[in-house]
Amino acid sequence: MNTKVITEGKAKIKTWTKEIVSKDMPVFYNPLMKFNRDMSVLLLNSVDKNDMNIGDPMAGTGVRAVRLLTELKKGKIKSIQINDLSEKAVETIKENIELNKDNLNYEDIEVSQKDANLFILESQGFDYLDIDPFGTPNPFLDSSMERISRGGILAVTATDTAALCGTYPTTCKRNYYATPLRNEHMHELGLRILARKVQLIATQYEKALTPIFSYHKDHYFRIFFLCTKSKTKCDEMIKRHKFFHYCNKCLNFETSDKNELTCCERKMDYAGPLWVGELNDKILLKEMIKNNDIKENKEFLETILKESQKNIVGFVDLHRYSQKYKTGIPKTDEAITKLRNNGFFAEKTIFDLYGIRTDAKIKEFVEAVR
Ligand SMILES: C[S@@+](CC[C@H](N)C(=O)[O-])C[C@H]1O[C@@H](n2cnc3c(N)ncnc32)[C@H](O)[C@@H]1O
Repeated sequence: MNTKVITEGKAKIKTWTKEIVSKDMPVFYNPLMKFNRDMSVLLLNSVDKNDMNIGDPMAGTGVRAVRLLTELKKGKIKSIQINDLSEKAVETIKENIELNKDNLNYEDIEVSQKDANLFILESQGFDYLDIDPFGTPNPFLDSSMERISRGGILAVTATDTAALCGTYPTTCKRNYYATPLRNEHMHELGLRILARKVQLIATQYEKALTPIFSYHKDHYFRIFFLCTKSKTKCDEMIKRHKFFHYCNKCLNFETSDKNELTCCERKMDYAGPLWVGELNDKILLKEMIKNNDIKENKEFLETILKESQKNIVGFVDLHRYSQKYKTGIPKTDEAITKLRNNGFFAEKTIFDLYGIRTDAKIKEFVEAVR
């Protein structure tokens, strides 16, 4: 298989040419995950943190770490450790560091070839740790909790969307201790199920992991958590693990501590337990939007900020609304204006092209939008 050198951000990266991106590549590189890596760079450049000990335990070609090394502002990095289990990956990481050697803003780089858990546990701890596995992050959560520092940021990617979105509900129950729901809410609910699972593992170490930036995109979920060591915060966090209920007949949705609610004279569908707290830190998002210089990422970030102004779990999908209420499909902008004119919060959502995040109850939504 041929190799080629591509440019991503400010990094030059040796990769392999293969039509289909898969685990079977000599060293894994997915160009679709550029956005994922853009966000690591942007977030770390936007938080009020310098002198960070950074860990990239499953680095693949090393693209993320090299981007951090070439794009983070001076003073951000105190140490950086890059690791992968694969010998070929480690060879490639070293080559990619060499390829970028004239452009690095930090040079004391450690590269290792270990199992990720061993790599994390043998470290002195990290202020930024990026868990980017194939599939579920579950096998790497315990070690991460042991070594993420107080005030540190843990970034978690999950690509097992079929479990988290309810294609395989049993797998979701087994891996995430929660029931998923396969409908228009599935991406938001999957993200919230993942957030709770990470938080549950963290509380065992008396660490409270607050989501500061979270999203679903393409084939994956991504959450950045801020770590605080506090039993009280852990207890408060667990109180915000609840169930999401959905009435398939009238589209009403609500959250509750119970896993059984009725609506339209029948039991509502439910998902959870899941995190019903904020998914994003609004101040951080504003800073990220200010610092973002990639045009195609702007709208996505702005939508997240706008929909995060009010913490609401769930939204109304206009296609479903039109099916259930036998109306034409309203234009999103018009529906938003009508809801606002009636005094409700209304914004688009990143989770659904036809979704409106609103605090209007479904009856109020119908009255306003009809
Ligand atoms: C999804 S890829 C990482 C992609 C990379 N972070 C990027 O942004 O391009 C997962 C990587 O984890 C590595 N890996 C899988 N299991 C591992 C383990 N137990 N310990 C360390 N690395 C592992 C694989 O070799 C692969 O390179």
